[in-house]
Amino acid sequence: MARLESACDVDRIDATGAASHDELVRRVAGKQALLSMVTDAVDRAVIEAGTDLRVIANVAVGYNNVDVAAARERGIIVTNTPDVLTDATADLTLALILAVTRRLGEGERMLRRGDWKGWAFDQLLGMQLRGRQLGIVGWGRIGRAVAERAAAFGMTIEHTSRSSAGMPLDRLLSTSDVVSLHVPLTAETRHLIGQPELARMKRSAYLINTTRGPVVDEAALGWALKNRLISGAALDVYEREPEVHPDLLAFENVVLAPHLGSATTETRTAMADLAVSNAIAVLEGKPPLTPVG
Ligand code: DGY
Repeated sequence: MARLESACDVDRIDATGAASHDELVRRVAGKQALLSMVTDAVDRAVIEAGTDLRVIANVAVGYNNVDVAAARERGIIVTNTPDVLTDATADLTLALILAVTRRLGEGERMLRRGDWKGWAFDQLLGMQLRGRQLGIVGWGRIGRAVAERAAAFGMTIEHTSRSSAGMPLDRLLSTSDVVSLHVPLTAETRHLIGQPELARMKRSAYLINTTRGPVVDEAALGWALKNRLISGAALDVYEREPEVHPDLLAFENVVLAPHLGSATTETRTAMADLAVSNAIAVLEGKPPLTPVG
């Protein structure tokens, strides 16, 4: 805020989650730059109301909340915050892999309920990672950073991606012990993981999602868990945040985090800094640091 305020007049919408759509439409009028959060729907209506807009600086690496095509039509630059959140998101992915395979949520709930009767030889046995295959769907910065970390745990890594050679998705799903999703949300990747894909996974496998909720069909995931087609899932993102599909809340073998991928003080500071630099650069007539597309 201090950097922004020294460069321009700032109209700040204080909202815990998303600013309401009506409020965004009303307040964007007459502004040259918009700093948006991942929860703000910067759709055509917002963009058309922002007749003076020159830049939309999204404070996130994902920008599925911004109608980039509508912005482009009006010559508005859209920027995101790549790189600075790669480590934090990859770290959280590993935390989720460990939590679900070692049944940490289940164990903590048992302990807090007062149901722990003491150490037992066969209590809450999980799956060891060494020698297991991690299948990474989406071989970008975050997918690769997850691979690097998982390799240190002795996992073998396979990946699938549109642009580089890898394993076909079908084969990756049927051979992996852990499948972790790292594709951006686009029309192509919406419900990339649905009933047929879940049915293809090993019954002993786990699904991890730290990218965007709609990449997974949550109802299908509930069905797969109910029918024991997979061993568990760990999710940081949801189809209709902050709602979580009620079926998923019922399972002990599902770890649920509230969209924490980039939530470290260091990372959020770096994301804010980068978004501010992007906005100021465009306002000063300079090229943005990290434009999208
Ligand atoms: C992102 O950057 O896309 C995250 O989901 C928000 O922290």
